[in-house]
Amino acid sequence: MHRIQELDGRYVAQTYRRQPLCLVEGKGMFVRDIEGKKYLDFVGGIAVCALGHCHPAIIKAISTQAKKLMHVSNLYYIQPQAELAGLLAQVAPQGIDKFFFCNSGAEAVEGSFKLAVKHTKRQRIIAMEGSFHGRTASTVGATWHASYREPYAALIPKVFDFVPFNDLAAVEKATTDQTAAVIVEPVQGEGGINVASDDFLPGLRKLCDERGILLICDEIQTGMGRTGRWFACQNWGVTPDIVTMAKALGGGFPIGCFGAKGDVMASFSPGDHASTFGGNPLACEASKAVIKTMLRLKLPKRVARIGKYFKKRLLELKDKHDCVLDVRGLGLMLGMELSSKQIADAAVAKARERGLLINCTADKVLRFVPPLIVERKHVDRLIKELDQILTEVGKC
Ligand SMILES: Cc1ncc(COP(=O)(O)O)c(C=O)c1O
Repeated sequence: MHRIQELDGRYVAQTYRRQPLCLVEGKGMFVRDIEGKKYLDFVGGIAVCALGHCHPAIIKAISTQAKKLMHVSNLYYIQPQAELAGLLAQVAPQGIDKFFFCNSGAEAVEGSFKLAVKHTKRQRIIAMEGSFHGRTASTVGATWHASYREPYAALIPKVFDFVPFNDLAAVEKATTDQTAAVIVEPVQGEGGINVASDDFLPGLRKLCDERGILLICDEIQTGMGRTGRWFACQNWGVTPDIVTMAKALGGGFPIGCFGAKGDVMASFSPGDHASTFGGNPLACEASKAVIKTMLRLKLPKRVARIGKYFKKRLLELKDKHDCVLDVRGLGLMLGMELSSKQIADAAVAKARERGLLINCTADKVLRFVPPLIVERKHVDRLIKELDQILTEVGKC
């Protein structure tokens, strides 16, 4: 462990606040650190490892493809890419039937902005307070956290208008004849697990339709079954014009994508957008395995069920512990807001000592985004441990 910390400190850019932990292997819901200690994982690479760690279907897909053809340029047709797009069309919100593949979430959002501007021939984008859309120049511009944006102001296009999340009247007021798109996370992840109110997404859909504005749902964290539907916007019966994905899409293999309605994606002509690695055969085979396995296990439905149980159990802890201010979320994207950052940080550290990985976002919100294969027995163990942890940290 010391050697890794030393190497990291000496040679790796120090952009991450790392916990004193080096994970080296995983299986299903569990990971093991370099010293051999086992952890129950409720972070799942932050909503990435949807099928758990090292799922056999993903291993098989990657190793089989690696022996056949690892990379090929988008100059040529790519069989796994075309097949993956076909699968996505089956599960995406109705009408989203054209897909562009890239390598990360930020790239997917960035591409969605380019498409919106090209399609509408307008310049500006409305984003939400509390949003997170990535760290590239334009996506960080649409990200609410000022400390992420301000040092790079010179690089960020001045086209973003922020409005309070869940405030339809504010969105309406902010629109102009130059608004190309409104981007929204149906459940804000990094912002602290904030769920869109009942009428917000349907209201946005109506407003965008009336004003010729595109609605972009950023489903990088909420997508692929996480909220109990394939895409979170489906909980509100809303189809966006563009939807972004990444994280769970490859189950741990890096891949990003944005899907759009056919007539919107048709605004891109050959040469308008590209990526050397985007839609690479290995990544697409991994993603095909993820989607096929999710379909086979009917995972989104299962997530809805176990997510309800998990939330009920978290609410029991809220009733019991004064330091718990709120419990919120949808499916297996749940948050527990604590009374201070100090208490939240202490809870994460104590959980780790007990062999339990949990994450904290927005300073004091414990975020639970476990693999979607999580079972009741795992939830019960988490709740039991968390009960004791909250008793201990609640006093600090
Ligand atoms: C909603 C949302 N959008 C965009 C991103 C950026 O994705 P990436 O880190 O893959 O660039 C994230 C990452 O956390 C996210 O949660």
